[in-house]
Amino acid sequence: MFDFRDKSVVITGGGSGIGAAMVERFAQHGASIAILELDLQKAEKLASELPQSSGKTRCYQVNIADQQRVTQVINQVVDELGTVDILINNAGISQIGRLDQTDEQDFDKVFAVNVKGAYNCMYAVIEHMRSRNRGVILNMCSIAATLGIPDRFAYSATKGAIRSMTFAVAKDYLDYNIRCNCISPARVHTPFVDDYLKVNYPGKEAEMFKKLEATQPVGRMAKPVEIANLALYLCSDEASFITGTDYTIDGGFVTLNT
Ligand SMILES: NC(=O)c1ccc[n+]([C@@H]2O[C@H](COP(=O)([O-])OP(=O)(O)OC[C@H]3O[C@@H](n4cnc5c(N)ncnc54)[C@H](O)[C@@H]3O)[C@@H](O)[C@H]2O)c1
Repeated sequence: MFDFRDKSVVITGGGSGIGAAMVERFAQHGASIAILELDLQKAEKLASELPQSSGKTRCYQVNIADQQRVTQVINQVVDELGTVDILINNAGISQIGRLDQTDEQDFDKVFAVNVKGAYNCMYAVIEHMRSRNRGVILNMCSIAATLGIPDRFAYSATKGAIRSMTFAVAKDYLDYNIRCNCISPARVHTPFVDDYLKVNYPGKEAEMFKKLEATQPVGRMAKPVEIANLALYLCSDEASFITGTDYTIDGGFVTLNT
């Protein structure tokens, strides 16, 4: 089970947090991996620490909001790794604030990365996958997509777009054996969360961290590897019956919070 030795996986934002945990998990299962990262140093450090047993690993400095660069890099990945079997649209940025606190620049910035970035990557791989009559796309969504998180107006909207793009792609490419799903976590303990606390609650990070943990009914945040485990399953041949689905992984956040 979970044999990725003949699979090539593109992971965006693979240098940190959930993306880094995915890179490690897929590498442990033999995948060849292309990390598309804004921060090349982080990606290269992680790649140098992967087990020898993994397939090839390549790191590319990319801003996923830049369509021309994404297309160029995906073509390079196909040349260097032979193909793209799996695309994981993981890279994303946060945006704190209600509607009245979100100006046009904030709105455009978070949409450029979270929505246009995912579109750019799917657009760049889809013809390749379609011509091979196979492929898997996995998008990082969030419970914000369906619940709308307080103080996350634009961020929630971007994740709503990710969710609907996932369903549209799953429908349009069903006949080409391309599966498309998304994962919606509640809070996951990554630099994403730590940076938010540092910026917004200086000196009160520990206290606020406990509050954030308590919002998950299980009493803690997810670990990045727990999200990576679900990603591994959804991208594996063992999940061949799963497409057009948004998988919640939230410590009970959606259904157990009253
Ligand atoms: N951490 C959480 O609580 C949580 C919860 C739900 C969903 N998510 C989603 O999971 C994904 C990963 O989150 P994380 O917590 O691991 O974040 P993170 O900040 O730890 O890592 C994100 C990575 O993406 C890279 N990146 C950012 N913008 C980029 C761009 N324009 N081009 C290329 N790379 C870029 C960053 O350099 C970073 O390495 C995001 O889409 C996020 O919205 C996170």
